[in-house]
Amino acid sequence: MAASRYLVPLIAVIVIAVLALLIIYPRLTAPPAKVLRVGTSPDFPPFEFIDEGGNIVGIDIDLVKAIAKRLGYEVEVISIDFEGLIPALLNKQIDVIASGMTITEERAEVVAFTTPYWEADQAILVAAGSGFRPQSLDDLVEKKVGVQSGTTAEQLVHDYITSTGKSIDVKSYPSYVLAVVDLVNGRLDAVIVDSPVAQMFVREYNVEVSAIIRTEEKYGLAVRKDDVELLSKLNEALEEFLNTDEWMQIIDKYLGG
Ligand code: ARG
Repeated sequence: MAASRYLVPLIAVIVIAVLALLIIYPRLTAPPAKVLRVGTSPDFPPFEFIDEGGNIVGIDIDLVKAIAKRLGYEVEVISIDFEGLIPALLNKQIDVIASGMTITEERAEVVAFTTPYWEADQAILVAAGSGFRPQSLDDLVEKKVGVQSGTTAEQLVHDYITSTGKSIDVKSYPSYVLAVVDLVNGRLDAVIVDSPVAQMFVREYNVEVSAIIRTEEKYGLAVRKDDVELLSKLNEALEEFLNTDEWMQIIDKYLGG
């Protein structure tokens, strides 16, 4: 039978063609992974810092990666000094800020914040064993006080100076790590920094917390105001994620032990 001579090869060709299509087609149609560019100032343990391997890690990084994954995004983490984060967001160098950023009215005029994921106060850090125990900003009058540029701590000290007319020698640093190093070396009398971060610096440097200033700040992720869809997706994923075991494990990984 002449027909059957061609039938077997024909079927083989068809089978191979179909298999090839099955393998190739999903790759052609799978949407390219969307990349979310996340800006952070990695001088703020446990939220963002540089590990021994030189990687940017921390609670904010794991949080934003977990949420992004749920939304089908890949994350690219970009290191930017805190003061430069909002400008970088506005000029589209990054899409999201994840940097222990306090939700403030002033900032909310220029960026959009997600719902809060953390709460913090400010702490006064001093060199261990210095004997200097400031209990409030009043005790820092005429002293050298380090803060990070563009932070709520810097704002707090500036507001105190303006409202009281007293003088504090404020030194603003691009990075909190540099401020703490200067404190340890005796170039500063105190550093004012968010309370959870102060606790971490106490573990890593020869410094101690002298007092807590209650400011009741709340951290949020920030996006551009016109990124309405991204904001609502982030909020949805964030609210869900904050109830998971995975979130508890992230906190434990960076704060436990
Ligand atoms: N929570 C403070 C603020 O919003 C300090 C944040 C500093 N963050 C950082 N990654 N260095 O101003």
